[in-house]
Amino acid sequence: MVYEWDRLRVPKTLSEFQQKWARRNDPHCFSGVWRFHELLPFVPIEQCVTVGEGQTLLHPSQGVAEYTGMTPGRLYLQYEGMNPSGSFKDNGMSAAFSHARFVGATRAACASTGNTSASLALYCSVTRLMKAVIFIGSGKISYGKLSQALDYGALTVQINGDFDDAMARVKEVTQQLGIYLVNSVNPFRLEGQKTIMFRVLEALDWEVPDWIVVPGGNLGNSSAFGKAFHELRELGLIDRMPRLAVINATGASTLYELVEKRDIRWNQGSPDAAKVCRYYDAMDAEGRRASTIASAIEINRPVNFNKCIRALEWCDGVVREVTDQQILDAKAKVGAGGLGCEPASAASVAGTKLLVSEGVIEPDQRVVCILTGHQLKDPTATVSYHTTDQDQFNKVLGSRGVRRAAFANRAVGVPNNLDEIIKAIRLYS
Ligand code: F0G
Repeated sequence: MVYEWDRLRVPKTLSEFQQKWARRNDPHCFSGVWRFHELLPFVPIEQCVTVGEGQTLLHPSQGVAEYTGMTPGRLYLQYEGMNPSGSFKDNGMSAAFSHARFVGATRAACASTGNTSASLALYCSVTRLMKAVIFIGSGKISYGKLSQALDYGALTVQINGDFDDAMARVKEVTQQLGIYLVNSVNPFRLEGQKTIMFRVLEALDWEVPDWIVVPGGNLGNSSAFGKAFHELRELGLIDRMPRLAVINATGASTLYELVEKRDIRWNQGSPDAAKVCRYYDAMDAEGRRASTIASAIEINRPVNFNKCIRALEWCDGVVREVTDQQILDAKAKVGAGGLGCEPASAASVAGTKLLVSEGVIEPDQRVVCILTGHQLKDPTATVSYHTTDQDQFNKVLGSRGVRRAAFANRAVGVPNNLDEIIKAIRLYS
């Protein structure tokens, strides 16, 4: 999506956006997406749909800074779990949903690992403007997310397959039935997700951080973030670009494999498509399918691959993979800081730790990790990490190569007896 900025009114400095804070009773100024409307002006502001998305926090985390080897005060967590549906998806959904309404859609659909579907279901039921149809891989979605789609009344189609199968089907179905598709192949989604970066800048008093670290699944976020900074730079609203680190789970590492192992680059808009095809053909021939505890990013063929490698080019980016063990340990450290996240989100923290250990990120640099989804999205993963029940641990986590829970906070079992309870509290507190 390219704008003719010359013909639009764009603020001369980013701090002009702060004036909107004084108009908090105007829903479009309250929205953390639409208060930046001038930077995503594809639908007139009166037509933009908001449910109060984007009231999110950037907070420095001393515990996570120590864990990753960063200097305290230099590592920030952008907590997108605070969105109405509990994940960053609401940023993009408010944008795609607004466009869908603008073009007169009455039904919207998506394939999802759970957060896009929760978000779409929420926008549909809160606004009553459209009906939601969602496609999910059966058994591939965490209970927190499934419960949202069901509770909000979306038509929920469970496909015998994984996210990639659901994605392929939803494309066919939406084309045949003329249903509006809100997956991040939809460019308006990415426009909304740019605003996560605008809010990061806002929280840093409009200073550009050194690094943005983000989990990589379908690669919508990384693509949107690169575009956000590229446009701000072109508009002269920032004077330098941050670096971008995209973190895959080891069990779902298409981007890592293609970029870091096979050297696929944006190459001025002509990436080596034949090499990418060969990679996918081999994946299919060998029957390799993505598998990770971070179910949100359990994706084989990321739909925004090309846009992501463009973002990596713009932001001098790197890609890394982290194991489920590293993800869950990082997640426990984030949780211990109070604003917990779901497994996929913690890939950003695990990735930061890895990049600090490699010397790629320096401890004094300013780093922003994106926490993409709320802790309550996947209670099974969290409880299985902290459990005292070895069978549960083995079943949920051991089967994925997770061997230990170094940062587990285990419940203390005591008989229902006052003296014993008091004894236990004295012993453990
Ligand atoms: N983190 C969470 C919590 C997610 O739900 C997703 C994607 C990602 C990270 C990856 O982001 O696709 O922009 O690279 N979830 C999608 C879904 C696929 O269907 O909810 P990405």
